[in-house]
Amino acid sequence: MADDTLLSVRDLSIDFSTAGNRLHALRNVDLEVSPGRIVGIVGESGCGKSTLASSLIGLLAANAEIVSGAIEFEGQDLARLSAGQMRAVRGRRISMVFQDPMTSLNPVVTIGRQMTDIQYREKRSAAEKRRVASDMLRTVGIPDAESRLSAYPHQFSGGMRQRICIGMALLMEPALLIADEPTTALDATLEVQVIKLLKELQRQFGCAIVFVSHHLGTVAELCDEVVVMYAGEVVERGLVRDIFRRPSHPYTQALLECDPARITAPTRKLPTIPGTLPNLVRPPNGCIFRERCPKAFARCAVEAPPEYSGAGAGHRARCHLLDETAEGTA
Ligand SMILES: Nc1ncnc2c1ncn2[C@@H]1O[C@H](COP(=O)(O)OP(=O)(O)O)[C@@H](O)[C@H]1O
Ligand code: SF4
Ligand SMILES: [Mg+2]
Repeated sequence: MADDTLLSVRDLSIDFSTAGNRLHALRNVDLEVSPGRIVGIVGESGCGKSTLASSLIGLLAANAEIVSGAIEFEGQDLARLSAGQMRAVRGRRISMVFQDPMTSLNPVVTIGRQMTDIQYREKRSAAEKRRVASDMLRTVGIPDAESRLSAYPHQFSGGMRQRICIGMALLMEPALLIADEPTTALDATLEVQVIKLLKELQRQFGCAIVFVSHHLGTVAELCDEVVVMYAGEVVERGLVRDIFRRPSHPYTQALLECDPARITAPTRKLPTIPGTLPNLVRPPNGCIFRERCPKAFARCAVEAPPEYSGAGAGHRARCHLLDETAEGTA
């Protein structure tokens, strides 16, 4: 693990047990996050984004099993921690914001109480904890922060609730914030505001962010780097500008072609990538994208592509078309 790496996921594979089967939801995933960087994870629904995000904070479903790999973070392998050890990391060094704010808010407890409870390990007086809480509410843009501490979650709008969750996640000044589709439930105007807020808070707190989204526009706006997932594998990674301007993997190219922001011709129906995700109980041989890939050729059916270098620095993609040693493949 390089010195300047905060989080290093290596060869991570996760299965879910379902009705007597094993679904291989993540296969050999690598992910590197440097301190203070914002890394986006994109891919269609069902590609394993939430499974990866949840594994980083020890919140996998009960039927999940980490089959192999490591999640190195600040000198520990999170994949090997007990539930108790993980609780000590969660909320303090790594915290999470979910798509639905009510996942992390207790509906019957005031916001002020919830925000002081998080500080239970701190040697601060009750009054100081309240002050820290109201300062954070102000920081995330809640008007009348002091008096709003005594309000309950339902007394805030959806956008305000998500701001509160972001504030709660940052309260202990974690080194890593994981945000899983935090704006998906918001309308477009609120989404822009929350993205702007995340950007400001990242600068202020200096934390790294893993930002999961299927909305490419928000990823382009917020992130430094992007990881593209398809059917449980990372198929492409690189700097935002390389991935958006020079995508190397046919899946990334297809995702970008379906992005509403890029479609210039008037259309009634948003395009989608033809075909469906493969069955992850028995993932196919060769390239995982082959069944839907318009550029597939013979080699793709028999050999899983390794990571090849793409156009820019640190730009990598799993597609045989990038194999410069091969002859006459395309
Ligand atoms: N608890 C679970 N039990 C069984 N299968 C699951 C469970 N959670 C997710 N999956 C499956 O794992 C795959 C990845 O899901 P997920 O990580 O939620 O994808 P994404 O967040 O990209 O939409 C999907 O096939 C999904 O149906
Ligand atoms: S390896 Fe083959 S099937 Fe896979 S993305 Fe590249 S061209 Fe398509
Ligand atoms: Mg998800």
